[in-house]
Amino acid sequence: MSSYVTTPIYYVNANPHLGHAYTTIAADVWARHRRQRGEDVFFLTGTDEHGSKVARSAAAAGLSPKEFCDLIAGVFRSLAADLHATNDFFIRTSDPEHEVFVQRFVERMKAAGDVYEALYAGLYCTGCEAFYTEDDLNDGLCPQHGTRPEWLEERNWFFRLSAYGERLRALYAERPDYVLPRTRYNEALAFIDGGLQDISLSRSSIEWGVPVPWDPDQVIYVWIDALINYASALTYARPGEDLTAQHWPPRWQVLAKDILKFHAVIWPAMLMSAGYAVPEQLLIHGYLTVRDAKMSKSVGNVLDPFLVINTYGLDALRFYVLKDVRFGSDGDVSYERVHDRYNHELANDLGNLVSRTVAMVGRYRSGAAPAAAPDAAVRDLLVAVGARVADHLDRFELTEALEATWEAVRALNRFVEERAPWKLAKDPAAAAELDVALYTLLDGLRVIAVLLAAFIPDAARSILIAVGAETASGWEEIAPGRLPVGAASRLDGPLFPRIDAPPA
Ligand code: MSP
Repeated sequence: MSSYVTTPIYYVNANPHLGHAYTTIAADVWARHRRQRGEDVFFLTGTDEHGSKVARSAAAAGLSPKEFCDLIAGVFRSLAADLHATNDFFIRTSDPEHEVFVQRFVERMKAAGDVYEALYAGLYCTGCEAFYTEDDLNDGLCPQHGTRPEWLEERNWFFRLSAYGERLRALYAERPDYVLPRTRYNEALAFIDGGLQDISLSRSSIEWGVPVPWDPDQVIYVWIDALINYASALTYARPGEDLTAQHWPPRWQVLAKDILKFHAVIWPAMLMSAGYAVPEQLLIHGYLTVRDAKMSKSVGNVLDPFLVINTYGLDALRFYVLKDVRFGSDGDVSYERVHDRYNHELANDLGNLVSRTVAMVGRYRSGAAPAAAPDAAVRDLLVAVGARVADHLDRFELTEALEATWEAVRALNRFVEERAPWKLAKDPAAAAELDVALYTLLDGLRVIAVLLAAFIPDAARSILIAVGAETASGWEEIAPGRLPVGAASRLDGPLFPRIDAPPA
């Protein structure tokens, strides 16, 4: 089965912040994990470039929309690369292939009888690029941005979303895990049960967008244009090939709760209208917050992912965001917390364990894994941890998976202290016991590296090289005792050098 994984495509109105990095990291962990399990993964991310929000930022920067988009899309693309995201393609909605596909898609919706022309008179928040009713607002202000929406009156093409209530309800009834976690499923279902209004499919007062094919004075509403990226990308990601048959529908779409309604209600209805299968599952996470406010460019409380990467390294960033904030919930982040977790968990718990182990194997066994079986208690613990990590991952519980893995890290640290190989090494009668201790440590680190490979890929690879098991990182390798006897261990420097002070 194909495992098509997507992130939202990010607006290019401003540079990326840690919130954008967060979703890309989570989806990448997921893509890597599924590859570890032998699946045929296609992983997509990219940028959302049309609409008034981007057009206004471009004007403010004194650039044409396209010039401005090229610039910021470049920053998002390099963020994905710097995060070592293993995306198979990076889509931009200004790609000509996407634009043509969007036109064909809305024509299919029109041919299905779901598109009609009418006058829109109502509220619009440019920050959200969303139409609101008075009931949606808090004291007349946008619930996301706290700003006053604009009054719009324009001739639009509409999508008959109201016709899809029954089919959406049937979808939700058939698939109790269509949206995870369950609270988000309930929230989406409540939207549907609350009664669906038709929505605008086009905008007539802006120019930066994809022309409506049958009415080129209007452009397609940016959200309709953006959602279609998940389908368009497959048609041109590989020149001369159409990957739709191989990968459609997406198996997992990762996004935060801010854009739930678009993905959980409007998007499946659009797909039903145009005659496409709907995605298998939407995985919804919470917000990274700073002093309890959602991190966002408009609030100005952003953490810079590039700064964290430059100070602590990429793996520290990937580890931090998934370990510190329970995936699915909101959670506060700060440079101080990155710093603490880096020094305690990565440098102390894991990095030191690797250095000590490799040093002892070098000193006492000339750097070769001794012939021994792993200690039975450690082996049992690793088997249990491996099973729990797999279960957590199956439920997309990324933080719990890391927590379970850290139980193994702490257990190995206790094991070194209890066995004290440096004492055993002084007693010739304890040679066999020393073999067991060292083999258990090397092999245990190998298992931990495989469990962590999707989360902190570079460090995991360094650990596998350090214990002499470089090539083996498939999921079946979490079984203890697979380290070949004689495997050569080596380490060039500390995995996570200590860092004295946070960057800001
Ligand atoms: N362009 C739309 C999405 C179109 S998808 C067809 C958009 N873009 S966005 O730039 O605002 O990105 C929103 C997404 O970025 C969120 O759903 C989430 O994945 C991520 N995040 C942005 N800020 C975030 C936090 N502070 N915390 C967690 N995720 C954050 O909406």
